[in-house]
Amino acid sequence: MTLWGGRFTEEMDALLKQFGDSMTFDQRLYAADIRGSIVYAAELGRAGLITEKECDQLLRGLEQVKAEFDAGTFQIQPGDEDIHTAVERRLGELIGPAAGKLHTGRSRNDQVATDLRLYLLDEIAALREALVDTQAAMIEKAEDYLDVIMPGYTHVQQAQPVLFSHWLMSFFWKLQRDSERLVDLTKRVRLCPLGSGALAGNPFGIDRQALAACLGFTTVAQNSIDAVSDRDFVVEFLAWAALVQVHLSQLAEDLVIWASREFGFVQVAESYSTGSSIMPQKKNPDSLELMRGKTGRVTGHLSGLLTALKGLPSSYDKDLQEDKEALFDVIDTLKMELPIAAGVIRTLTANADRMAEALDDGLLATDLTDYLVRKGVPFRESHSLVGQAVRQAEELGVSLKELGLTNYQAIHPAFTEDVYKALDFRRSVEARDTEGGTAPKAVRAQIERAKALIAQS
Ligand code: ARG
Repeated sequence: MTLWGGRFTEEMDALLKQFGDSMTFDQRLYAADIRGSIVYAAELGRAGLITEKECDQLLRGLEQVKAEFDAGTFQIQPGDEDIHTAVERRLGELIGPAAGKLHTGRSRNDQVATDLRLYLLDEIAALREALVDTQAAMIEKAEDYLDVIMPGYTHVQQAQPVLFSHWLMSFFWKLQRDSERLVDLTKRVRLCPLGSGALAGNPFGIDRQALAACLGFTTVAQNSIDAVSDRDFVVEFLAWAALVQVHLSQLAEDLVIWASREFGFVQVAESYSTGSSIMPQKKNPDSLELMRGKTGRVTGHLSGLLTALKGLPSSYDKDLQEDKEALFDVIDTLKMELPIAAGVIRTLTANADRMAEALDDGLLATDLTDYLVRKGVPFRESHSLVGQAVRQAEELGVSLKELGLTNYQAIHPAFTEDVYKALDFRRSVEARDTEGGTAPKAVRAQIERAKALIAQS
């Protein structure tokens, strides 16, 4: 029996029933659904729409339904179209006709919109914690390796030397922005649609602000037509998740390359790697590859929902049911992925020797330019002069450090004996000591600011 069968004489097509039912996935909203119903039943009682006895019956019955779900004993029946229907059906079995009064003035349209927001608010809190823990892992590892210098890259070409910690902390700030974005979007999740009815509002004088306050919302949604159809909060959340995914994927990509034998800059712990069924020597960084690969599904869900919403007629349409599987899958993905990212980072080993071996003198070309600039040569000119030195060294098959002083002086007399002191990786790193730079002093300050930020979150 459906909840809406009164005007129907024909049975629903079996395949359509399967096509339209959402119980298989929306049952995870049960706690949010029952929480909303409990608050709604109490408000019906306060407004005098049901007797005290009926109200009491509803509240007890709802608690019992929740207990059954909690215990895993709730029996789903073939007619249970969705979580809302299932809870009400079971409530009827438990308390009799009073169950039929719960839905007074309410629609599944304002109900599902409320449930989804309540559910998401809980998940956001858990995800924020996981995000902050991943940031904490980055800080810990950055502190472990504060004196390790590595080649810094642009275009995957050696560019300038940087601290490994500086590279790692660059991801902290991406996640910090993600964390701030999550807090910001939460403001828009915390609006209560309950009391909007199907689309036109509630005719029974229920106190929407009281409902909102009891459910932990900041205030009520201001327009009932908008309230039942607004899934912007889901889009925002999915967009947030897509960006988190992109950040994790970028982190993973650097590490996958650096974990290769050719680089050998880092080692991914065995606990986060897998072997090959045919090649005994293999240790594959599956954890990182999946962190990269999950980006497809998460960004896919964002574009899927946007497409479902595009051109949707006003207020509730069944298309909106498509929001849930996308949302649930993204939540499940990130709830597993963020702790894995944190674990990979915590157990990662950096190989300082391999990084040092990979440092090419070319990384110091900018320092050589700066050297001439400090001697009064205009930057543009010194850039071109150092370019000549690089070419000469290349032609002679030597490094910049090995290029003779006479060669340097033939290029420009401002080059003197101290040019070789400028050609020092540590000195290069230490020179970049302004805020945000890679000097150990600046990175230490960066880490302190990062710690203060996560202490607040
Ligand atoms: N399962 C539905 C959904 O997720 C609940 C709302 C149904 N509303 C309706 N008017 N049929 O959207």
